[in-house]
Amino acid sequence: MNASEVLCASGVDLSYGSTPAVRGAHLSLTRGEVTAITGASGSGKSSLLYCLAGVLPATRGEIRFEGQSFGDLDDDEISTLRRERFGFVFQYGELLPELTIEENTALPLRLAGKRKGPALKAAAAVLDRLGIADLRSRRPSQVSGGQSQRVAVARALVHKPAVVFADEPTGSLDSGNADAVLKEFLTLARSQGTAVLLVTHDAAVADQADRRFTMADGSLAPQGAAS
Ligand SMILES: Nc1ncnc2c1ncn2[C@@H]1O[C@H](COP(=O)(O)OP(=O)(O)OP(=O)(O)O)[C@@H](O)[C@H]1O
Ligand SMILES: [Mg+2]
Repeated sequence: MNASEVLCASGVDLSYGSTPAVRGAHLSLTRGEVTAITGASGSGKSSLLYCLAGVLPATRGEIRFEGQSFGDLDDDEISTLRRERFGFVFQYGELLPELTIEENTALPLRLAGKRKGPALKAAAAVLDRLGIADLRSRRPSQVSGGQSQRVAVARALVHKPAVVFADEPTGSLDSGNADAVLKEFLTLARSQGTAVLLVTHDAAVADQADRRFTMADGSLAPQGAAS
């Protein structure tokens, strides 16, 4: 493993009961680099993402984060890893309606035990980088779809995680908005050395990645490789 590698999966299988969803996946993620996985609906992209993020246990194979195998961590340690070292962005943003934009953004820092004042200050700084600092006192119901997706991005990056897992992060936006939000997301992630795993069915989205893989029927392959 080289120094810039943060997450490394080898021979990962995931089955739901007797149904295989991921077969023998090999993948490594590097600091500040964006890796995209494309593939048809049902090919296993989200299943692989959930394994790599420690949300679902792999049926077989090994996943190492900073050299440490998930298999050597107990449930509490995996939860702490997910909360403190990983960030997540999903298709619909999924903000908490009762919190302000700034409080939503600060959530990972608050969950990691940071005091309210410094957490809100860090949140405001990320919101500023994404061009939405003026929205910080509003609730999620009072901002547009593109704006709430920017908030979801801010929340995923605010604690400077080692890895952000993004599953169709701009899937609910029109293409103009999606392109702008994605560019801002990836620029900020790269600048703070966060590795991004980007799952999408959209080739134009995947084109913005540094490395591309395709998934078909549970099997992951580098883009352009013969299957
Ligand atoms: N909780 C589950 N229980 C049983 N089977 C599941 C479960 N989740 C997913 N599957 C199956 O696993 C396979 C892979 O699903 P997955 O959600 O990983 O695909 P995907 O590539 O993310 O698709 P999409 O592009 O539609 O999001 C599919 O055949 C799906 O039906
Ligand atoms: Mg999916």
